Amino acid sequence: MTTKTINHLLTLEELTPSALDDLLGLAAEVKRQPEAFQSALAGKKVALLFEKASTRTRMSFEVGVVELGGYPLFLSSSDLQIGRGEPLTDTIQVMSRYVDALMIRTYAHATVETLASAGSIPIINGLTDSHHPCQVLADLLTVEEVFGTRTGKTLTYIGDGNNMAHSLMIGGALSGMHIRIASPEAYTVETEIFERANELAATTGGSITLWQDPVAAATGADVIYTDVFASMGQEAEAAERLTQFATFQVDASLMQQAKSEAIFLHCLPAHRGEEVTADVIDGPQSVVFNQAENRLHAQKALMLTLLA
Ligand code: CP
Ligand code: NVA
Repeated sequence: MTTKTINHLLTLEELTPSALDDLLGLAAEVKRQPEAFQSALAGKKVALLFEKASTRTRMSFEVGVVELGGYPLFLSSSDLQIGRGEPLTDTIQVMSRYVDALMIRTYAHATVETLASAGSIPIINGLTDSHHPCQVLADLLTVEEVFGTRTGKTLTYIGDGNNMAHSLMIGGALSGMHIRIASPEAYTVETEIFERANELAATTGGSITLWQDPVAAATGADVIYTDVFASMGQEAEAAERLTQFATFQVDASLMQQAKSEAIFLHCLPAHRGEEVTADVIDGPQSVVFNQAENRLHAQKALMLTLLA
């Protein structure tokens, strides 16, 4: 049974293992019979505020709110008064009078924490520099669909120790999974987030380990996952990162280290020829478009959990 009320989704640490099970179970049900939920958010307004570009997050939230009978408001920070210096704390107090929840994609993770404490509506993190919890809800749903379970599965993430790596560590720990993160030493995950995820994993029978050799990390894995070498906001480092991550590309020979039934995941957008070769992402082990579709179902379940 779920033992704590979920008010916000900022890092996935708001969830207990059983609350995550409930949420993913609901996502599977929403996916099976979307019509049963078409009025579940009737009368609810959800603001969707973007300070960075987005295809999947924007579309899946906007469509998701509509499919639940609610009303989405797409907002770009450059069009709001925050673009001209209005404090975020004023903005969220105003928003709290108009809408029932705010999904935001922004830079500093502290921004979503400030919004959660200054406002009086649920805040959903649609990606910060440090975390991407909504993506990992979809990733875990995908793992569960393919293998029938998450517990005990080994997911190897190869590449930058970024927002995706952090959220995969937390979501994997909640799931009792074995998460291996393989990154160049200078680009590994944040120690504090690793330690929190590690403590969580110790309570679920999972594990989180850090690797520098992608081949060793991929050996025997059930899931191989990668993300861009340069995230949004790191465009100036892109050329340097291409060099630093040269041996961290997911190609066919790396996939061969994993189990023969292993799947390939990528949060997208992908850069073929950089973090992954075209034969892998477009090949038979790749389920990246099912994974992208699952953003819709997982986030509908999230909004039902926070709002219905
Ligand atoms: N994976 C993901 O968040 O995609 P977008 O940047 O297109 O939203
Ligand atoms: N790490 C990437 C994820 C995009 C969905 C970024 O932050 O740009």
